[in-house]
Amino acid sequence: MRSWVAALTLTLLYWTTAINANFGIDYHAKRAYFNFQPDRESQYVFALNAAANGDLYFHMSGPVGHTWLGMGIGNEMKDSLMIIAYPTSDGLKTTISVRLGSGHTEPVYTPDFEVVKIYNDTYAPFANTVTHQGTGAIIAHAMCRNCSQWVTGSLDTRSTSQPFIFALGPREQFRSDSPEASIPRHAVYGKYTMDMTKATNYTGWYGRVPGPNIPDFTFPPDDTAFANYATSPVYGVRTMNNPMPTVHAALMCVAFVVIFPLGAVVMRFLKQALWHAAIQVVGFVAVLAGFGAAVTVAKQYNKSKEYRSAHQVIGLIVLAGLFIQLGLGLVHHAMYVRTNKPTPMGRIHFFLGPIIILLGIINGGVGFDFARNNHLKIPYGILVAAIALVFIGALGCQMFCRSRRKYKPEPEALQYPGFAAKGYSDFELSRQPTFGEQPPMPYEPPTPYSPTGPYSSNSPFTTTAPYTPLSAYTPITPRTWKKEDITNWPQAPFKDYD
Ligand code: HEM
Ligand code: HEM
Ligand SMILES: *[C@@H]1O[C@H](CO)[C@@H](O)[C@H](O)[C@H]1NC(C)=O
Ligand SMILES: *[C@@H]1O[C@H](CO)[C@@H](O)[C@H](O)[C@H]1NC(C)=O
Ligand SMILES: *[C@@H]1O[C@H](CO)[C@@H](O)[C@H](O)[C@H]1NC(C)=O
Repeated sequence: MRSWVAALTLTLLYWTTAINANFGIDYHAKRAYFNFQPDRESQYVFALNAAANGDLYFHMSGPVGHTWLGMGIGNEMKDSLMIIAYPTSDGLKTTISVRLGSGHTEPVYTPDFEVVKIYNDTYAPFANTVTHQGTGAIIAHAMCRNCSQWVTGSLDTRSTSQPFIFALGPREQFRSDSPEASIPRHAVYGKYTMDMTKATNYTGWYGRVPGPNIPDFTFPPDDTAFANYATSPVYGVRTMNNPMPTVHAALMCVAFVVIFPLGAVVMRFLKQALWHAAIQVVGFVAVLAGFGAAVTVAKQYNKSKEYRSAHQVIGLIVLAGLFIQLGLGLVHHAMYVRTNKPTPMGRIHFFLGPIIILLGIINGGVGFDFARNNHLKIPYGILVAAIALVFIGALGCQMFCRSRRKYKPEPEALQYPGFAAKGYSDFELSRQPTFGEQPPMPYEPPTPYSPTGPYSSNSPFTTTAPYTPLSAYTPITPRTWKKEDITNWPQAPFKDYD
C-alpha cells in the first residue's frame, strides 16, 4: 500500500514536472538577450522585455567578483538611464539602483523610478540574490516601472538598433544596501544594440522577466543558460584600471610616512638644515603631485565632487599647512643665517611640522576608509607603527646619546686639535637651537690650547671623564669668563670649578 502511494506520487511528480518543464517561462513574451564574457569563468547577461506602458522587465546577472554590474540605455554614459546592481551589505542579496549618467563620472541615483523586485518566477529561484552564499553571481530580476522615458532621454521601442551600454566594476569587494552608494569606477565596459521590436509588447502592459533561453538548460539555471538573441555583437569594449587613486595614495603615504619624518629626523638628529630643506621639498613636491592625482579622482565620484568629505577637508588643511611650513622654514633659515638667533617663525615651524605630519598620516587612514579599502588600513597601520617606533627610539636615544656626546668629545678630537676646532665650528654653525633648549653659546674662539672650546671645558663631567687631562691644556676656565656670559645662560647643568 505504502509503495503504491510512493509510486503514484513519483509518477504525478514526473508528470507535473514534464508539463512545467519550462519552469513557468512565457515563451510568447517578447524579449531580447545580450551576454558578454568579461573573462573565462564568468558571463554578464542583460535580458529585457519592455511593455507598451514603459515598464521594463529585466534580468541582469554577472560575477560578484566584479563589484557591481550595470546597464545603460543610450550610446554613452552622458544622459543615459542606468540600472546598477551590487550586493547588499550582508553580501547575500542584490541592491538595484536606478541612476542618471552625466558624462565620464559616477552616475547619480534618481528616486524618480520604482524598481519592483520579482521573486515568484519559478525559473528564477535565486532572483535578487548573490548565488553560492554570496560568492557566485549577482542576479537582478525585476521590473523598472515606467523607465522608458526620463528627463534627458528615452528608449526607442520602435528601433531595431537601440544602443545600450554596459559595465562591470573592478575586482574589489563592495556591498551596500543603499541605492545611492558611491561605486568605484568600472574595470570593463562596452556597447551593443538591441532590436526593440523583438523585445517590446506594443499592445499592453503585460511583461515578464526573461528566463533562460537555452533549450534544455539545467535547473536551477546559471548564467550560461542565456544566449545572445536580438542584439548586435558587442563593440567598443574597453578594459581599464584607473591608476589615479593608487598614484594619489602612494605619493601621499610615502610623503607623510617616510619622507617628512625622515626630513624631521635629519633636522633634529643631524642638524643638517639644508638636507632637511631638500628632503622636505621632495616630500612637498610628492604631495603636490598626489594632490593633482586626487583632483582628477575627486571629479569622478559623487562622494568627492564637492570636497566635503572629512578626508578631503583634512587633506586641504594639511596641504595649506605644508605651504605655511615651507614659507616659515625658508624665512626662518634666511634670518638665522644672518643673525644666528632663533626666530618666532622657527618656533612655529618646529611645532607645526610634527602636527602636520601626524594629521597627514591620520588622513591616510581616513583615505582608505573613504576609498572603501578598509583592509589596507591594517598594513598601513603596521607601517606607521614601525616607523613611529624607529622615530621614538631615535628620540629617546638622542636625549641619552646627545648628552653623552656633549660632555665627552671624541678621542680623535683631542689628538688632533686642528680637526677638533674645525669639527666644532661646523657643529656650531649647523646647529639650530631648538625651542626650549639653550641659545647658542657665547662664542669663544678656540685657542690653540683650547681645541674643544667652551663646550667641553664647561662640562661638569670633565673631572670624572676619562679625558681629565684636557684641563691641563685649557687655560680658559669658567672663572676667566666675563660674568654676563654666565648669567645669560638658562639653567644649564653647570658646576663651578675650584
Ligand atoms: C614643507 C616641508 C617641511 C616640513 C614638513 C618640515 C618639517 C619640520 C619639522 C617636523 C621640524 C622639526 C624637526 C625636529 O623634530 O627637530 C622642522 C624643523 C626645521 N625645519 Fe623644516 N620642514 C619643511 C620645510 C623646511 C624648509 C624648506 C626649511 C628651510 C631651510 C626648513 C627648515 C627647518 C629648520 C631650520 C628647522 C629647525 C627649526 C628650529 O629649530 O626652530 N624646513 N621642520
Ligand atoms: C594628507 C593628505 C592626503 C593623504 C595622506 C591621502 C591619502 C589617501 C589614501 C591612502 C587614499 C586611499 C586610496 C585607495 O585606497 O585607493 C585616499 C583616497 C582618496 N583621496 Fe586622499 N589623501 C590626502 C589628501 C587628499 C585631498 C586633499 C583630496 C582632495 C581632492 C583627496 C582625495 C581623495 C579621493 C577622492 C580619494 C578616493 C579615491 C577612491 O575612492 O578611489 N585626498 N587618499
Ligand atoms: C507574481 O506576483 C505578482 C504580485 O506580486 C503577481 O502580479 C504575478 O502575477 C505573480 N506571477 C506569477 C507567475 O505568479
Ligand atoms: C511615465 O513617465 C512619463 C514621463 O517620464 C509620464 O509622462 C507618464 O505619465 C508616466 N506614465 C505612467 C503610467 O506613470
Ligand atoms: C501584451 O500585453 C497584453 C496585456 O496588456 C497581453 O494580453 C499580451 O499577451 C501581451 N503580449 C505579449 C506578446 O506578451
